[in-house]
Amino acid sequence: MCGIFAYLNYLTPKSRQEVLDLLVTGLKRLEYRGYDSTGVAIDSPDNKNIVMVKRTGKVKVLEEAIQEHFSGGEYSKPVLTHVGIAHTRWATHGVPCERNSHPHRSDDGNGFVVVHNGIITNYNDVKTFLAKRGYEFESDTDTEVFAKLVHHLWKTHPTYSFRELVEQAILQVEGAFAIAVKSKYFPGECVASRRSSPLLVGIKTKTRLATDHIPILYGKDIRPHGQSRELPVLPRSESTSEFMPLEEKEVEYFFASDASAVIEHTNRVIYLEDDDVAAVRDGTLSIHRLKKSLDDPHAREITTLKMEIQQIMKGNYDYFMQKEIFEQPDSVVNTMRGRVRFDGNAIVLGGIKDYIPEIKRCRRLMLIGCGTSYHSAVATRQLLEELTELPVMVELASDFLDRNTPIFRDDVCFFISQSGETADTLMALRYCKQRGALIVGITNTVGSSICRESHCGVHINAGPEIGVASTKAYTSQFISLVMFALVMSEDRLSLQQRRLEILQALSNLADQIRAVLQLDSKVQELAKDLYQHKSLLIMGRGYNFATCLEGALKVKELTYMHSEGIMAGELKHGPLALVDDSMPVLMIVLRDPVYVKCMNALQQVTSRKGCPIIICEEGDEETKAFSSRHLEIPRTVDCLQGILTVIPMQLLSYHIAVLRGCDVDCPRNLAKSVTVE
Ligand code: M6R
Repeated sequence: MCGIFAYLNYLTPKSRQEVLDLLVTGLKRLEYRGYDSTGVAIDSPDNKNIVMVKRTGKVKVLEEAIQEHFSGGEYSKPVLTHVGIAHTRWATHGVPCERNSHPHRSDDGNGFVVVHNGIITNYNDVKTFLAKRGYEFESDTDTEVFAKLVHHLWKTHPTYSFRELVEQAILQVEGAFAIAVKSKYFPGECVASRRSSPLLVGIKTKTRLATDHIPILYGKDIRPHGQSRELPVLPRSESTSEFMPLEEKEVEYFFASDASAVIEHTNRVIYLEDDDVAAVRDGTLSIHRLKKSLDDPHAREITTLKMEIQQIMKGNYDYFMQKEIFEQPDSVVNTMRGRVRFDGNAIVLGGIKDYIPEIKRCRRLMLIGCGTSYHSAVATRQLLEELTELPVMVELASDFLDRNTPIFRDDVCFFISQSGETADTLMALRYCKQRGALIVGITNTVGSSICRESHCGVHINAGPEIGVASTKAYTSQFISLVMFALVMSEDRLSLQQRRLEILQALSNLADQIRAVLQLDSKVQELAKDLYQHKSLLIMGRGYNFATCLEGALKVKELTYMHSEGIMAGELKHGPLALVDDSMPVLMIVLRDPVYVKCMNALQQVTSRKGCPIIICEEGDEETKAFSSRHLEIPRTVDCLQGILTVIPMQLLSYHIAVLRGCDVDCPRNLAKSVTVE
C-alpha cells in the first residue's frame, strides 16, 4: 500500500516544472496502491531549501495545486542535477489529511524529507527517544519518526555520509517498509531502501549501459536490525563510497514501488532486495547491504522489463477495470502461450518442471492466498484433487498464520498472488519455507517478493492489472492451476480422456469468453434493476461456488453494497431465511454434476417468492423457465465453467459501481497491493 516515486537527474537539464510533471505522472501510475492523499518534495528555486506540496485526495488534486502555485518563472528554468520525491498514500497511522501526507520532514527547515510505504512497528519507542531529545512531532504517522531520526543522527555524527545516516536509521527501525530520502544538506543525492515492501530503481542513460549488474557493497560489522532500543550508533560502514559501481556521465534514476511507474522512461531496472540500501551520489548508483548472508549474490542484476507502455494505458475504455475485463480473451491465451501444445496435447510449465517428481511425492498440496487469489484456489481445488489424487487444502493466508498451521517438509505450498507482494501471503510463504516445505509461487508480477522467495513457480502472464478489483488475474490464476493439474496427471492412463476433454475446452476458451463479453449490454440492464438495492445474494455450488465468492467480493469492493456468496447446499441451513420477494438473488445453475441439486435450490428460492437472476447454459429452456431474467453462457467442461461464469459477475459489479457513482478503479478504503499485515 502507498506508492513511492522519486526522480533524480544528473547532468541532464530539467526544469523544476518538468520534474514536477514527472513526479505527478509517476504517482498517477502508482495511484492504485493508495489514493487518500499525496505529496511531492523538490528543491526550492534558490536551491537552498526543499519545497513540499501535499494534498488530501487523489493525485489530480495535487496536480491542480502544482499547476496553480508552481509553474512558470523560476520553475521553468533548467537545473542540471536535481532530486524530487513523491508519494501517494493509503493511511495506516493517522487519518488521511495534509498533515499526515508524505513527504514527512525532520524539522521546520525541511533538512531531511522522507516518503515511506509500510509500517514502522517500533515507531513509538523511537518517537519517545526523539521526544526526549527535543523533537516535536507534527503528524500522527510512523514515517515522521524516520525523518527525525536521520536528522538526530546527522546532528550527532556530522561527518557521516547521507547513505550512512540513512543506514544507521534503518538499523534502528523495525517492521516492513520502503523509503526514499532527500536532504537539503546533500543536494543531488537520494537514498532508498526496502524491507518487505517493494522498491525498484530504474536507470536511464543516453547510451547503452556499460554493465548489466551493480556489485553489492557491505558495511563492516553491521549487526542485525532492531537489536537495540537505545539507538547506539553502530560502527561506521567501511564500504568505500569512492567505489563507482555504476558510473555514467549523464543519467536519470527513478525509484518506484513498481515498474508501471518507470516503464515510460526506461526498461532497465534493478529490483532491490530486503535490506538493500541504494544510494546515488555524483550521478553514481551504489547498492549496499545492511546484513551479510552466505547466499547473497555479489551483484544486483539490471533487468530489462518486457512491459509495454500501452499495457498500462486505459486506451478507449472508461476505466482500467473495464479494459482488464475485456482483455480476458487475450490474457487467458497469454497464460497458456508456449505452455499448452494443443496439437500434441502436451503441457510444459518451464518454471516448475524440474520439481514435478518431488511434487508428485508430496504429502499434500496447500494453496494459500488472499481475496481474489484465494478464490482462484477455491475454484480449482476440486480439479486438483481429481487430477493429482492428493489432498488439497485451500487457505486464507491471514487465517493460516493465525492458526500456526502445522507444515511439514513433504508439503508443497502454493502462494497465489497477483502482485506478489501481499504481506499476509508473503508471511505465510516465509512460515512454510522455514519449515522446509517446497514453495511454489503463482504470481503476475515478475521480480516480486513472492516470485523471488519461491523455489519455483508459474508466472500467470496476464499483463499489468491496474484496477484495484482483480479480474483478468483471477482467470489467469485459474488457468495456471488447471495447467498444473494437467501436468500432474500426464502419465495417468485412467485420466487421459478427462485431460483431453479439458485441453479441448481450453482451446475454445478465448472465443467463449468473447461470447460472454457480448452479454455486456444485457448485464448493464440487469445492473439498472439492482443498483438501488442494499444487498445481493449470489448462490451456486460445485465448480461455481468460487464464482459466488468472487462475484460477492467484486460487488462489495466496487459498489459498497452488501453481497454474499452462498453455497447453495447451505441454503436450508440458514440463508434461506433472507429470501423474500424483495431480496435480490443471483443463481448459477449449469448442466454439470450438481445440476439437480442446484435446481432444488432454485425451487427453494422461487417457492419463497424469490425472483432470481439465473446464469445458465445457452439454450437451457428448462432452467430459464424459472425466471424472466437470465444470462446464457456457452457450454464448456465442468471444471472451466467458473471462468465463464465469473465474467458476468465482473461486468455486473462494474456496471452497478458506475450507476452508483463509485470510483471503479480506486474503491474507497482499499489499495491494489496490500503490503501491511
Ligand atoms: O496481489 P494479491 O493477489 O496477493 O492480492 C490479494 C487481494 O488483496 C486481492 O485479490 C483483492 O482481494 C482484490 N482487490 C479483489 O478484487
